Amino acid sequence: MSLSIAPIDPVSRPFFAGVVSGIDITKPLTTEQARAIEAGMDQYGVLVFHDQHFDDESQLAFSRNFGDLEEATGDLNFHKARRLGSALVNDISNLDMNNQVLARDSRRRLFSLGNRLWHSDSSFKEVPAKFSLLSARVIPSAGGNTEFADMRVAYDSLDDELKAECENLICEHSQRYSRGVLGFADFTEEDKIRFKPVLQRLVRRHPSTGRKSLFLASHAGAIQGWPVPEARQFLRDLTEHATQRKFVYSHVWKQYDLVMWDNRATMHRARPFPDSEVRDMHRTTVASERSTMAEAA
Ligand code: OGA
Ligand code: MN
Repeated sequence: MSLSIAPIDPVSRPFFAGVVSGIDITKPLTTEQARAIEAGMDQYGVLVFHDQHFDDESQLAFSRNFGDLEEATGDLNFHKARRLGSALVNDISNLDMNNQVLARDSRRRLFSLGNRLWHSDSSFKEVPAKFSLLSARVIPSAGGNTEFADMRVAYDSLDDELKAECENLICEHSQRYSRGVLGFADFTEEDKIRFKPVLQRLVRRHPSTGRKSLFLASHAGAIQGWPVPEARQFLRDLTEHATQRKFVYSHVWKQYDLVMWDNRATMHRARPFPDSEVRDMHRTTVASERSTMAEAA
């Protein structure tokens, strides 16, 4: 059987979220296979692969087909002892160093609840993420879906006046804003420097497809030249528009799924699950080639 890609919901979302079959991506890919997956990403924005028994090493090898990998510097504990060995793997779990479920008031747990707000990975880095690859190692018995919103359609469906208003706006993104929304303010002086705001265009053009999209995230907390409350209200309205159910694919995880998304064209968020259960996901992240400020408008 050879690689094929089909829309997950051909009726209501024929161009967003595809499922890939006929390939074992834990093994080295041919150039043609890597190209076909990248083309599928350009088309669907999100790709799902079932039954891929990754360890960190094979996940890193697969991820490298798509560009240079980011270090997990957005992790609260990046400079401290971490559960996972590689600095290139983000620990998207609710586990501590001893593989025990984090306490309810754990700083790392409370910080990670920020993933439940709509966002685009590493929009708080000057050069944000291109692709994220999330591998489900252990999943809870219920809940814990990941939702994805199509930011190309979100842009296309704005009226002309709103498109024009958004066109040249520059936002400031920081993890301090997204965590602040949830009332998390437990940052060290070192965190504050590390999470200093970066600038990103609000409307970006995809480097391969040429399509425009809205580049929103919970990390966006200001618009250059705008009073802050006005900016936050405007960004909130745009986010509400962009995350209407008809633009959203909700992924129900199976163990060993690998879901890959294009952060330049989508937003995503995690959903709640029973707190006493283990959810262990490992994320690798391919960096974009340049900042949105340096991208063609
Ligand atoms: C991520 C993320 C969502 C989830 O890994 O970047 O936001 O459902 N994950 O764990
Ligand atoms: Mn994320």
